[in-house]
Order: sequence, then C-alpha cells, then structure tokens
Amino acid sequence: MKNVVTTWNLTRVFGTFTAVDSLTLSIEEGEIFGFLGPNGAGKSTAVRMLCGILEPTAGTATVLGYDLLRQTEQIKRKIGYMSQKFSLYDDLTVLENLDFYAGLYSIPNGQRRNRLGEILSLVSLAGQEDELVANLSGGWKQRLALGCAIISRPSLVFLDEPTSGVSPTGRRAFFNLIQQLAGEGTTVIVTTHFMDEAERCHRIAFMSGGRLIAVDTPDNLKANTLQGCLVELELPEAMDRIPAIEEQPYVKECSPHGSLLHVLLDSPAGVAALERFTGAVARPITPSLEDVFVALARHDRARQPQAADRENR
Ligand SMILES: Nc1ncnc2c1ncn2[C@@H]1O[C@H](COP(=O)(O)OP(=O)(O)OP(=O)(O)O)[C@@H](O)[C@H]1O
Ligand SMILES: [Mg+2]
Repeated sequence: MKNVVTTWNLTRVFGTFTAVDSLTLSIEEGEIFGFLGPNGAGKSTAVRMLCGILEPTAGTATVLGYDLLRQTEQIKRKIGYMSQKFSLYDDLTVLENLDFYAGLYSIPNGQRRNRLGEILSLVSLAGQEDELVANLSGGWKQRLALGCAIISRPSLVFLDEPTSGVSPTGRRAFFNLIQQLAGEGTTVIVTTHFMDEAERCHRIAFMSGGRLIAVDTPDNLKANTLQGCLVELELPEAMDRIPAIEEQPYVKECSPHGSLLHVLLDSPAGVAALERFTGAVARPITPSLEDVFVALARHDRARQPQAADRENR
C-alpha cells in the first residue's frame, strides 16, 4: 500500500505551549484514518499542519508526495479540507456555494456543470440546488460543506469534526458518505469525538496532550489496550463509590459509563472480591472503544498532569 501522508516528529508550538508534540505516523491510500482525543489534544492543529495551512515549528512530513515545508501550495491545491468551523455562505444557494468553491479550485468552466451535478448527487442534495443555505438543517449544511471540500474530487480529504452538531441519523448518513468516498479510493482523514464514528475508521490515532498515544485498528485497540478483566457494575450512587472501589488492591481502575461503572480488575479472580465489597453483581464485558479511550486518556493524565489543564484552556 502507498503512503499518502508520512510525518516525522511534526511539532507545533504556540508561544511556550506545545500543541502537537513530535507526531510521527503514516497514513495509507484509501484509508479512513481517525484522529481522536480529548478537547485540546492537538487534533485540529495536526490536521491544519498537514493541510499546509499552519506552519510546523519542527519536524517534517510528506503529503501526496509533496514536502510539507516547501510545497504547501501544491498540497493545498490537491487536497480537500473541511474545517471544524467550516464556512458556507448563508445568503447564497446550495448551487452557488458549490460553484464558489469550484471557482476557488479553478475547475474549468467546461467541466463545472457536470462536476456540480456529480457532487450534488453524491452528497444527496440534488433537487435542493436552489435552496438558500440559511434554510438548510445542520445535517444538510454539513453535507454541503463536504461537497464543497471535495468539489475538485481530491484523492485526500481532511474532515475536522465534520459531524459535530448533527443528529445521530445525520451522522450515520454522513459517515456512509465517507465510506463511499474511501471505497472509491479517496483517503479520508477525519477527527471526531464520537465512538460510533471511530469504530467505522480503518485506523485510529489517539492523541492526548499533543502527543500520539496509540495508533491501530479499532479491533486491535480493543483487544490489546486494557490489561486485565473488565466488569460492569450497577450500583446506587455509583459516582460516590468510585474512590473506595479504586482503593481495592485487585482494582486497576474504575470509571462511570452512564449510570453504570466499568471496573478493570487485575484478573478474573477479582470478580468475586469486588462483588463481596460492593454487594452488586459484576458482569465481565468486552471492552468498547470508549473503555479503551478512557483508559488511554487517564494513563496519559497520570503520566503528564498538565494534560488535564489543556483540556480546560
Ligand atoms: N493559534 C493558537 N494559538 C494558541 N494556542 C492554540 C492555537 N491553536 C490551538 N491552540 C491550543 O493548542 C491546543 C490544541 O488545540 P487543537 O485545536 O489542536 O485541539 P483539538 O484536539 O482539535 O481540540 P477539540 O477537540 O476541542 O477541537 C489547545 O490547547 C489550543 O488552545
Ligand atoms: Mg479540533
């Protein structure tokens, strides 16, 4: 497989603050590659550097074979980018917005009509071309923003939280589109906070405090990250019980999942002891991606206490 993105110690510092710290990774052609991590982890900063919009402080990368430090103009022309705060023109129609982006990407006039039609049907907005953007729902705006980002049919697209603020149904539909693009050979790099979307990525990079903590397929992350036996507990006033549960010698960690607690035990031998201690039934479960990320973020915070501060910046 061909690498479309390779980074070596890519770093971005703002003043004295390191937003992305020595990011080294490779992304293959046709992958749906997800960046996950708490607020302030450095996902958008990493994406903005890879798009050639933000200059790295140190390190280097190649994107579609171009040198990120010297060939940003070529990179910008070749990729599609949908920013976290994407901009559409509310007072223009769907078609006028697409046409505006077609102009930005210098799509020749002779190809424009066809291309606009193709994109409209790809993002399922055919029939809505004359609708004012101001009248579109959030999910439709998001699809139109994606349409604008891929108007040049780029082989590499960056989508920074493309589904924030969209309903669960809208998000599923949007990710179907991402899968369709990837199926056609487009490499999609996407940031998200949603576990259901992370599950649909081929590989996930988990960032915390500017650093890459883990990168692998969702299945491998679930199989290999948590060492021990994970159980689920239903307890009244569960939150208040966490500190005492964590003090038990056979407990590695305990975290809330909705109204339930997930407890990671050293081994299955801890199940009976935990049940005696809490008076509740402890059901062994297979870890979800959320369990994996809770554990990864927590280990990183313990290792690097200032990580907690940056999430509140
Ligand atoms: N232009 C800037 N100047 C100073 N600090 C910045 C700048 N851009 C980002 N940061 C800081 O860098 C850190 C990483 O920000 P970034 O936007 O990359 O995080 P993120 O992972 O995308 O977070 P979110 O999930 O909230 O979108 C944050 O602490 C942010 O405040
Ligand atoms: Mg962001």
